[in-house]
Amino acid sequence: MGSIRIAFQAIPVIFFFLLQLPNHVAFNINNKPWLTPTQPEPTPTPWPEQFHALLYMNLTSTHLQLSDLWYDWPKGRNVNIFQKQLGILLYDIEWNNGTSFYYTLGPDAQCQMMDFGVGIPRPDFLDGAQYLGRVVTDGFLCDVWEKVEFIWYYEDVATKRPVRWDFYDGISSHVMTFEIGAVLPDSVVQAPTYCFTKPEDHNTFST
Ligand SMILES: *[C@@H]1O[C@H](CO)[C@@H](O)[C@H](O)[C@H]1NC(C)=O
Ligand SMILES: *[C@@H]1O[C@H](CO)[C@@H](O)[C@H](O)[C@H]1NC(C)=O
Repeated sequence: MGSIRIAFQAIPVIFFFLLQLPNHVAFNINNKPWLTPTQPEPTPTPWPEQFHALLYMNLTSTHLQLSDLWYDWPKGRNVNIFQKQLGILLYDIEWNNGTSFYYTLGPDAQCQMMDFGVGIPRPDFLDGAQYLGRVVTDGFLCDVWEKVEFIWYYEDVATKRPVRWDFYDGISSHVMTFEIGAVLPDSVVQAPTYCFTKPEDHNTFST
């Protein structure tokens, strides 16, 4: 039962919690010479209520993974299907009621259920983020915002699509595809029965 625990990242807990806070930390942006200030300051485009994105992720461990991200605000769920490099396919189904399921399929299938006590990010979770300026990243000219020194968010100036976001701990996600309105079929997000039959694997987190 070890591999899911190793694979599990506590990121969502802090993520969802912190992003609900206003950005009250003002700091000096003059020490970031790689950014070009822009006036008037743009505001981040809210996430579409439903989208599918393919993410290329570089983890702090120097490991890489792909993620199929299916964000669905009306259905109250945020799904990440992680393909770890030369490793497992890990399903991460997060519900707006605070419950998340992490599971694998197949012969050594495992499941871990968590209760984080906070829901998925709102489409406007970047509201109140601090604007930092403009920079070229991944070959795209982007506006950059930072929120509560937790996330750095890069949005394409031309198309307003997200290009990249970095977490404080160095994990960076690069957006490879961005399909607005795409919806994952409900059957894919139904947690397998073994998520409910092995109570010793369930953890409850409180924030
Ligand atoms: C992953 O990130 C690290 C740290 O920023 C960097 O040194 C490395 O080149 C990156 N690897 C890939 C494949 O992007
Ligand atoms: C949250 O919603 C999911 C999906 O409907 C459900 O499986 C889970 O039991 C719910 N959690 C709580 C604490 O109600």
